[in-house]
Amino acid sequence: MTTDSRRRALIDTDPGIDDALALLLAWGSPEWTVDVVTVVAGNVPLEAGTRNVFRLIDLRRPLPPPLVAAGAARPLARPLKIAPYHGVDGLGDLPDWPPVEPRPVPVDAPRVIVDAARRHERGLTIVALGPLTNLALAVEADAAAIRGAGRVVAMGGAVDVPGNVTPDAEFNAHVDPEALARVLDAGVRLDLVPLDATRQAILEPAALNAALARAPRPFADRVRRIVEYALRIDLAHGKRGMDLHDPLAVGVALDPTLVEWEPVRLAIGPDGQTRRAAGEPNCRFARVVDSPRFLRMFLERLCPAS
Ligand code: RIB
Ligand code: CA
Repeated sequence: MTTDSRRRALIDTDPGIDDALALLLAWGSPEWTVDVVTVVAGNVPLEAGTRNVFRLIDLRRPLPPPLVAAGAARPLARPLKIAPYHGVDGLGDLPDWPPVEPRPVPVDAPRVIVDAARRHERGLTIVALGPLTNLALAVEADAAAIRGAGRVVAMGGAVDVPGNVTPDAEFNAHVDPEALARVLDAGVRLDLVPLDATRQAILEPAALNAALARAPRPFADRVRRIVEYALRIDLAHGKRGMDLHDPLAVGVALDPTLVEWEPVRLAIGPDGQTRRAAGEPNCRFARVVDSPRFLRMFLERLCPAS
């Protein structure tokens, strides 16, 4: 049981450009301490994702620095599918990153997740930003501990809207549908942040540039170049900006009033479809977003004080 009254956050991630922005938001939020970052294969293979976490820690210098644990290198029951949207290296393929020495702890992510849940119980918020492989393995190890966490928030799924990796499946759910099903079947009170909500949280170039103008120059330039990689793709497809999928999951983990929630029973399809089904709700999903209020929070907290 945690003795410190501050909220503790554990973020499971597959960084990923939007994951990077989500981590920056989390590290810029005073309501909690991000004690742990666990890594899962998704947007990029596990080793690249782990390296990216250490790149982002080196860039942002959060205090205290989080414990980092590497987790699953592949989904529970199928080959890994990665996402080209983030570049080969997962952070926009910038050629000039300062070298980092990734030092994950010698304990795998599912064990670290279980240990954090046992220690902090209701004081812990778990935020999953990638495929739920690590979380499913943690549930397999100690479902009661994960059910005992204060909140479990996951970016994933597409309930009443089209998917983004197939016509009816969202990427995180598509990469590891078995993991999502296992978490839901274990009775974890999941707060799901699907594409229904995240497509309402759009980062436009002018808003990003205004926020970065207030930040230390080296930090601002690096973040701008990371985001530009994804923004170029989105703008080329006629969108007005980049969907802040993972940052919204962090946002609603910090402040659940940013969205309207709907309890729902979801059935998980073979390709990661997440559609309404009859029966008792097995989660609640974010349906309507107070986008201006979320974007204000995101842009105010994205950068360290100058
Ligand atoms: O579908 C969006 C999700 O897939 C985000 O978590 C993004 O990082 C990718 O992992
Ligand atoms: Ca992600």
